[in-house]
Amino acid sequence: EEVDVVVVGSCMTDLVSQTPRLPKAGETIHGHKFFIGFGGKGANQCVQAARLGAKTAMVCKVGKDFFGSNYIQNFKDNAVCTAFVTQTAEAMTGAASIIVNDAGENAIVIVAGANMLLGEEELEQARSALAKAKVLLCQLEISSHISLQALRIARQSNVKTIFNPAPAIPDLHTDFYRESDIFCCNESEAELLTGTRVASVNDAGHAGLELLKRGCAAVIVTLGPQGCVVLQASNPNPKHIPTTKVTPVDTTGAGDSFMGALAFYMAHYPSMPLEEMSRRANLVAAVSVQSIGTQTSYPFKKDLAAELF
Ligand code: RIB
Ligand code: NA
Repeated sequence: EEVDVVVVGSCMTDLVSQTPRLPKAGETIHGHKFFIGFGGKGANQCVQAARLGAKTAMVCKVGKDFFGSNYIQNFKDNAVCTAFVTQTAEAMTGAASIIVNDAGENAIVIVAGANMLLGEEELEQARSALAKAKVLLCQLEISSHISLQALRIARQSNVKTIFNPAPAIPDLHTDFYRESDIFCCNESEAELLTGTRVASVNDAGHAGLELLKRGCAAVIVTLGPQGCVVLQASNPNPKHIPTTKVTPVDTTGAGDSFMGALAFYMAHYPSMPLEEMSRRANLVAAVSVQSIGTQTSYPFKKDLAAELF
């Protein structure tokens, strides 16, 4: 069966504590709530695309442990194809320790574990499905050479590539830019990748232009409540796409909701202008910040206004 969106990426179990504020080094503070959720940037993005109606497949590795088996069931519950999800006894399922303060801000430590053991062999098994997909989506929570290899395979088969350099690394291989139809990062990732400060819409435009020059077909710099800035090689003038104002409860994974929505729009409305896809993806992500957790807060098609489809 053919899929619209393939994600080659990570799965993490999110261990989340809600606290009044983020603790300082050496400090112990009381939190008010703890919960376990399904996270990881790759899986989050895949689940959001699936909830909007994309046929999706996940290429990832989890541990041969309770968390990994649970995660596979979560994919099934979200109608994500698990044919390319493998389990290993060599490492634990990835885990993310997350602290969310009352302002909805977060601090996260990830231990990628099994994610780092996703290798060439597993990617090879997914090659034909990937080559037939409409969109490939990759991030940086697995070995970066596997992400790059996936982008290359997709490009060779004329599959649209969306790359989200998160979490950002300073010495990103230059081929990531050349293999990206859409290179989409947030303000702090744009800062790290360009070495310039990104504190305003204007700054985001400048950083976006610098990233575009490295060879991407398009760049999106997301700016949280300020929406995003879109640049295309065919139209390098930075275009600011503002978004609606909402009261954030938990912004964890909002970027992933945006990415998953973007992949959905690319697959289902390939001729829609990128600015319009970005505007709609922002509205989907805005829903996610209004409730706690990552995937638990991602909307389904039925929860959203008909104008978004
Ligand atoms: O982007 C949010 C995600 O980052 C969380 O779900 C957590 O697992 C970390 O990987
Ligand atoms: Na949320």
